[in-house]
Amino acid sequence: MPPRSFLPARLAGPRWTTMSGVSAGRQAARALGDRRSVPDIPWIERLTESPLGTIGRVLGELENAVEIERAIREAHQAGGRSFYAQFRAPFDIYAMVRLLRAGEIVETGVSSGVSSAHFLLGLKRNGRGRLHSIDLPTRQAKPELGTRESPVALPPGRESGWAIPASLRRNWDLRQGRSQRLLPELVQELSEVSIFLHDGEHTPDNLTFELETVRPRLRPGSIVLADNTAWTGQAFPRFARSLGAPVVRRRRSDLVGLRVPGSK
Ligand SMILES: C[S@@+](CC[C@H](N)C(=O)[O-])C[C@H]1O[C@@H](n2cnc3c(N)ncnc32)[C@H](O)[C@@H]1O
Repeated sequence: MPPRSFLPARLAGPRWTTMSGVSAGRQAARALGDRRSVPDIPWIERLTESPLGTIGRVLGELENAVEIERAIREAHQAGGRSFYAQFRAPFDIYAMVRLLRAGEIVETGVSSGVSSAHFLLGLKRNGRGRLHSIDLPTRQAKPELGTRESPVALPPGRESGWAIPASLRRNWDLRQGRSQRLLPELVQELSEVSIFLHDGEHTPDNLTFELETVRPRLRPGSIVLADNTAWTGQAFPRFARSLGAPVVRRRRSDLVGLRVPGSK
């Protein structure tokens, strides 16, 4: 980005920062190899209530993430996943971690670790916080993925989070097992949760269970996200209504979020 003083006045403010953030986001999405991952700025804005210029500035940091994104893509290719339906908003959650200066983050559902890697990237940049991930992995039976197998299964010789670069794993607490068993005990250990992402077992009952389990640890300004809500009926909208929060949809997808109301 050119030094601010050399920019025409109309470009030197938030608009310019946002534009450079958009281009860094596009570049990172190309390096990761997933077009859907271009950040959705209005979604980030509504969930974090941050000024556009600040969102642009943190997305601009993704300029430095191109090598990491390439490494994740290459790890997927080496594991036989040239493309699959991995988490579609990795840069949005990076921005959320940065903008909230998140402390404790909890997610259910890891698979190769696209969402985990980007939570961890944000925490690393913040220099604080921890990601707690729960995953009950399934395993691919043969060297080639069978036509009836889910691509979220672990390829032979891999473990949950297998595509997460080693440089990001420092503040990662991975617990393997069912969220129904592990989430209640994890939540007991935490005083509050800044961000919760549901991306594990997508059933209405399980989503309701997970949301009600983390509810006591949410604070005003915490963000709650759930993917694949086309499969979970009214579970997320019902929870949002009980908090008095609007459901904020990412583009036209079924990845949704809410910001816990109230001032921090
Ligand atoms: C859609 S994938 C997660 C994708 C991941 N968030 C990403 O960024 O690509 C869902 C993961 O949740 C795991 N899972 C399924 N049921 C679960 C349960 N009851 N508790 C915890 N994990 C579960 C699956 O085995 C799989 O690894």
